[in-house]
Amino acid sequence: MIKCTTIAELRTEIKAHKRAGKRIGFVPTMGALHEGHLSLARTLREHSDVRVCSIFVNPTQFNDPKDYAAYVINLDTDQKLLEKEGVDILFAPSVDEFYPTGFQTSVTVSEISKLWEGPLRPGHFNGVASVVTILFNAVQPDVAIFGEKDFQQLRLIEQMVSDLKMDIRIVRGALVRDAEGLALSSRNARLSTKGKTDALSISRGLNAACKACASGEKNAKALEEMAAHSVRAVPGAEIEYIAVVREETLAPVENISGQCRILAVVRIEGVRLLDTMALTA
Ligand code: PAJ
Repeated sequence: MIKCTTIAELRTEIKAHKRAGKRIGFVPTMGALHEGHLSLARTLREHSDVRVCSIFVNPTQFNDPKDYAAYVINLDTDQKLLEKEGVDILFAPSVDEFYPTGFQTSVTVSEISKLWEGPLRPGHFNGVASVVTILFNAVQPDVAIFGEKDFQQLRLIEQMVSDLKMDIRIVRGALVRDAEGLALSSRNARLSTKGKTDALSISRGLNAACKACASGEKNAKALEEMAAHSVRAVPGAEIEYIAVVREETLAPVENISGQCRILAVVRIEGVRLLDTMALTA
């Protein structure tokens, strides 16, 4: 695996592969890699010849400076995991490489950013859309993959690519869970053993809602309540939102029809956990 830390080095590598007619596949990450990230790299193998993975903890998408400070990664460990996975190029730029003094441009995806995570994390989605644009310009991928775990982020990127006519195919990567059902996240490492057990109430609640929906319950409020009930059984768990939404727009729905999904954000031991499942109409 080749490691590039500057855009210039990366472009030289990418250009050589493009000249040879290779399709470039791309997995952007913020490091602290786990099986969820690695599964994206694996899925990308079916869609590309050369796989590029980036590791960049993007300061502009953290609305809470404490969260940024707590986002500790180990580049050596991550590098070994990507090497084992057979990734061809690791792109790990510095903050200065991406945001030199005088930087002043931002990308806004207006409607999707107004919903759910948007108001709770001011500036977050502008930070994500902007850094992904910079990453896309640096890597020039033919195809890029984003996880369904962060479903609103995935839709934001799909919308941005479509609106800005970027010639990049976005592939959706399935959410990866641990053996007990907890959605894998770098943030899980901050949970105690009890916290991890408590956090299972989230996927249990979402599963109950999915099952009820499949057996005929189409009322969104009833499904949301079912999921919330499971989480409320855990003392100290704080629900930020549990919402049934339309996949395309992420707008709330009253009754399930077409492609819908339930989104959940819950704080356990102060750790913000996201989970989501598709609902079958
Ligand atoms: P990060 O949180 O590191 O996630 C990188 C990618 O891994 C995202 O597409 C995310 O949805 C996916 N992912 C995380 N956990 C997953 C899981 N359990 N199963 C499947 N996929 C999972 O998302 C970001 O970084 C950043 O916002 C980024 C897009 C890199 C821009 O800075």
